[in-house]
Amino acid sequence: MSGVSVTKGADDAVPAAGDLVVLSNVNKHFGALHVLQDIDLTITRGEVVVVIGPSGSGKSTLCRAVNRLETIDSGDITIDGKPLPQEGKELARLRADVGMVFQSFNLFAHKTVLENVTLGQVKVRKMDKKAATEKARALLDRVGVAEQADKYPAQLSGGQQQRVAIARALAMDPKVMLFDEPTSALDPEMINEVLEVMQQLAREGMTMVVVTHEMGFARSAANRVVFMADGKIVEEATPEEFFSNPRSDRAKDFLSKILHH
Ligand SMILES: Nc1ncnc2c1ncn2[C@@H]1O[C@H](COP(=O)(O)OP(=O)(O)O)[C@@H](O)[C@H]1O
Ligand SMILES: [Mg+2]
Repeated sequence: MSGVSVTKGADDAVPAAGDLVVLSNVNKHFGALHVLQDIDLTITRGEVVVVIGPSGSGKSTLCRAVNRLETIDSGDITIDGKPLPQEGKELARLRADVGMVFQSFNLFAHKTVLENVTLGQVKVRKMDKKAATEKARALLDRVGVAEQADKYPAQLSGGQQQRVAIARALAMDPKVMLFDEPTSALDPEMINEVLEVMQQLAREGMTMVVVTHEMGFARSAANRVVFMADGKIVEEATPEEFFSNPRSDRAKDFLSKILHH
């Protein structure tokens, strides 16, 4: 699908103007494990969606499928009305359009911070080196690590590394940013510095999907909470509704566990 209707009459196959990421009836198995079960999820432009749920419920697989780090068995995923490309340059561009921030930072260890944020712009976006470097410095400044530009990732704290990872994704001018438990590997005193950068992005209108257990972030930044359990989307609601009045027993049980520790 190209964003233009080709199947006249099938109106529900045409993405609405504001839809950016659309998953329709997505299924995925790992062997016998049905890890994504009939997932329907639409993320509109500028929306911040927090995905929560117990460990093993399929949250990471969902994010990875949107970035095509995992293939799906059936269903459709479109970004901006276009199906996910299979391979090659198109796939590299998709990965640039869909910025991904992982729990484990995933910076290139043998490149400096500045090189980490410059590389993709030159290789994938074909920017000239000078412009890419200037943009990288501006982004490093924006996430508060400008002074670290010439260091290697291992010389930075976890919170600093994660902010570099965010800058690296932003350097590609992504259409949407996916965060998969971006603060879970951090020491407690570094969590806020990363959440603040994410809050800022949300305020600026970035479309974001955030897997997190940080309920404060969900309450203050999310437009919508999606609750997953056992490979299914069990509930979707505003943070207000979800936290004050979860409907399913699974969500009630999950919230009682994470809110009372
Ligand atoms: N590459 C894989 N091969 C086999 N099983 C996997 C793989 N990745 C994830 N799983 C399993 O799929 C389920 C969902 O995993 P995941 O998406 O990581 O859940 P979550 O992020 O919600 O904790 C888990 O049971 C996990 O063990
Ligand atoms: Mg996970």
